[in-house]
Amino acid sequence: MSTQFLAPVVAEEDQELEQTLRPRRLDEFVGQERVKEQLAIALTAAQARGEALDHVLLVGPPGLGKTSLAFIVREELGVGIRTVAGPALERKGDMAAILTALEPRDVLFVDEIHRLNRAIEEILYPALEDFRLDIIVGQGPAARTLTLDLPHFTLIGATTRTGLLTTPLRDRFGMTFRLDYYEPAELTTIVHRSARILGVEIAADAAQEIARRSRGTPRIANRILRRVRDVAQVRHEGSITNAIAAEALELLEVDQVGLERTDRELLRTIAGKFEGGPVGLSTLAVSLGEEPDTIEDVYEPYLLQLGFIQRTPRGRTITKLGRAHVGATAGDAKLF
Ligand SMILES: Nc1ncnc2c1ncn2[C@@H]1O[C@H](COP(=O)(O)OP(=O)(O)O)[C@@H](O)[C@H]1O
Ligand SMILES: [Mg+2]
Repeated sequence: MSTQFLAPVVAEEDQELEQTLRPRRLDEFVGQERVKEQLAIALTAAQARGEALDHVLLVGPPGLGKTSLAFIVREELGVGIRTVAGPALERKGDMAAILTALEPRDVLFVDEIHRLNRAIEEILYPALEDFRLDIIVGQGPAARTLTLDLPHFTLIGATTRTGLLTTPLRDRFGMTFRLDYYEPAELTTIVHRSARILGVEIAADAAQEIARRSRGTPRIANRILRRVRDVAQVRHEGSITNAIAAEALELLEVDQVGLERTDRELLRTIAGKFEGGPVGLSTLAVSLGEEPDTIEDVYEPYLLQLGFIQRTPRGRTITKLGRAHVGATAGDAKLF
């Protein structure tokens, strides 16, 4: 079994499922009440004025609903959407082509916006502020700047951490929404909703158990649900009881607090090999055979939230709680 099995990054095989389970309208989007409230007001106001919505920056760990919200905005506005991944844009011309093809009030969704290259980012500044595209034609002394007017559009940017964005880009967003990890009760609602869509019966306590072990993340809750459904189907009668959920979670090596093997390996590495830390991110990454970015964006935020590790200027350290979680046992046996 791959260690990144349930990690909340999008695997291609999951995309279809994500589409099916994705909330379409704001009122189907569970939790994040303050974000929804502010977004609803902004949407209503923009629509009443017949204007494009202000540019929106969505910030948060993977799997918390950033892409879903971008599509909800377009659905609520009844406009078109163009989506691109920051790292996929290579030349300035790519961005220019996208911008000039937008219709008034359309949404341009740029995922991983912190990974746009600088030259492309600079094209965005006048586009965002004045809906203007400056194109340089010719070279040397004959070079001239052509200015094109763009339709008023809405940029929705998604990123894991605001600190990754340059200040000029960050300043051009009218609204910034930070998504938090979900409460177990909210995740329970999401699990019930997803089970309904997937057409599988699930007991209340089973849904709660999955929710409790999903690391506050809807994408993980949905993935666990799908695995649990498989176990229910193959080994049992099909509907999901609490015992079946527990059996599947053990099979997946998801422990009582929702950690997976890689999370525990990370904790054990700091506790053992690095004697509790501090250990620098890149050293830790090499030791685990993971990318530093993956550790920082996928694994660390929840471990920090649980209070299992700490970030200090000299590196990562494990806390007493973190030690207690993995330290007491040599293996994983007691954790499930
Ligand atoms: N608030 C929510 N309510 C219901 N389902 C959600 C919510 N947020 C996320 N999801 C589910 O989790 C999946 C991943 O969400 P997504 O928007 O792709 O996250 P992100 O873009 O932040 O990585 C979606 O397909 C959806 O099924
Ligand atoms: Mg996304």
